[in-house]
Amino acid sequence: MKRKKLIIDCDPGVDDALMLAYAAAHRDAFEILGVTTVSGNQDIEKVTRNALDLTSFYGMDVPVARGMGTPLVKEPQYAPETHGESGLGSCTLPLSFREAEKEPAVVFIYRTLSGLPEGEKATLVATGPLTNVAVLLRLFPEIKKKIEEILFMGGSLCGGNVTPAAEFNFYADPEAARIVLHAGIPLVMCGLDVTEQCTLTRGQILKLCQSGYPVARACGDMMGFSLENTSEKYRGETSVHDVVPLMYLLSPEIFSGTPQILDVDCSDGPARGAVLGGFRWWRNEESEANVFALTGADREKFQESLISALYNET
Ligand code: BDR
Ligand code: CA
Repeated sequence: MKRKKLIIDCDPGVDDALMLAYAAAHRDAFEILGVTTVSGNQDIEKVTRNALDLTSFYGMDVPVARGMGTPLVKEPQYAPETHGESGLGSCTLPLSFREAEKEPAVVFIYRTLSGLPEGEKATLVATGPLTNVAVLLRLFPEIKKKIEEILFMGGSLCGGNVTPAAEFNFYADPEAARIVLHAGIPLVMCGLDVTEQCTLTRGQILKLCQSGYPVARACGDMMGFSLENTSEKYRGETSVHDVVPLMYLLSPEIFSGTPQILDVDCSDGPARGAVLGGFRWWRNEESEANVFALTGADREKFQESLISALYNET
């Protein structure tokens, strides 16, 4: 099978960490050209350290490039209550001896994509604020022809998790999200509509924590922190948002979605970061849609696919 070429842009982050474990477990399906980092769940130094440590821990031999340390317009917003002071909950990983690339993430992505053979493209998977992707598209608009599609975790058609209106990644950098939404590239939005259905239960997390497999145990520790330190503990389960775009690439039959015509609120009002728009079948043509938004998932199949990947030691 020909592997899908991917660049992963992330802000690890406990669910980003599980997403990287899922990518590592599926190296037969995904060729990871690089992992880039962006300020989000924690500051850029911490998420870059985490990306280096995680990729080494998972045995992934991929370049890691440090990305934008601030959103396009506003100051950064971090999420220590969900991801801890380090970004990986209370999990301590072995320190990687590898270093980040010398060039910034945006230049790394540009160089990697433009180096692909004539006619070849790669897919971008973004699981943090869209700052790097927006800067890439603004600085090097000609690179669009080398991007197959962009799958991003962010946004929501049904209310937010940071404010009543906005999801974290869109709230952190709505101006960047707007640039990406209007880029004219095929987009798959994996927003809260779908990711809140994609959970691990307290029992599943405890089982991971007790595993003899180091990757499964570390992922259990990280998710356990998120579960117990947020209001998710009342639900008894916690979402693993960032795994959704990768699992959708691998097993689209687990998910459902609809074409949408979407924008994002970039005002300073209470709806900052909220997704705007929609799709009215009696008014809109499918050709007008700028996004395919995932809205449904088979929760049990999601859990099966994720848990079996975390036990897949390399
Ligand atoms: C998103 O925000 C971050 O906290 C998670 O890593 C995920 O990307 C969920 O809203
Ligand atoms: Ca993330």
